[in-house]
Amino acid sequence: MNWETVADYAALSQRAAEILLAGIRRDPRLVLGLPTGRTPVGMYERVVAACAREYHCFRDVATFNLDEYAGIPRDHPGSYYTFMREHLFDHIDIDPANAHFPDGTAYEGQIAAAGGLGLTFLGLGGNGHIAFNEPGTPFTSRTRMVALSEYTRAANASLFPDGRVPTHAITMGIATILESREIVLLAVGPNKRAAIERLRSGEVTEEFPASALWGHRNVHVIVA
Ligand code: GLP
Repeated sequence: MNWETVADYAALSQRAAEILLAGIRRDPRLVLGLPTGRTPVGMYERVVAACAREYHCFRDVATFNLDEYAGIPRDHPGSYYTFMREHLFDHIDIDPANAHFPDGTAYEGQIAAAGGLGLTFLGLGGNGHIAFNEPGTPFTSRTRMVALSEYTRAANASLFPDGRVPTHAITMGIATILESREIVLLAVGPNKRAAIERLRSGEVTEEFPASALWGHRNVHVIVA
């Protein structure tokens, strides 16, 4: 695992955007795994700014979001589909047919048909979750419907001002994520510090989902 600590959120966003854009330059047909949440917003902002200058960035790229809430319409203001349109897809030249969201068991086949995940970015839950793989998730897990923990529902409640926070989501599994050829984990702020220290300790346990990343050969962790 390759660790990098940077000064602040702007620096983290800059580094992450550079890695993403370098990946596309290396392989214009890159298959990306993409996260939502507060952490990657700055990365997306910088990617959008760069791609407004070089307007072919995403023409042949395919993306697979890590997760999506279940039980709300795709265009709900709190959905990850809406999030991705607002922060990335509406501002770049991606073919909408190549921007995928988990909607059931077909997802694994779609990822495989696209050639498998090449570069996947992850945020980190304060409880160590990656995507919506909560503590206790088997490392062999694949894309499926999951119940959200109260911890995670509370952490994401601000996206649902009416108080109706979804109870379930569809998420890539840990095994799905680990098949990505390269993984970049982003973590920022005091709420993530304990989780980062636990990850750094090297203890590998299903009680702490992010620790599965120790079983992968090409993981870059960026902390601010
Ligand atoms: C959410 C998402 C995760 C995300 C995490 C951290 O529950 N499902 O994919 O990485 O929480 O979110 P944030 O970046 O807002 O702290």
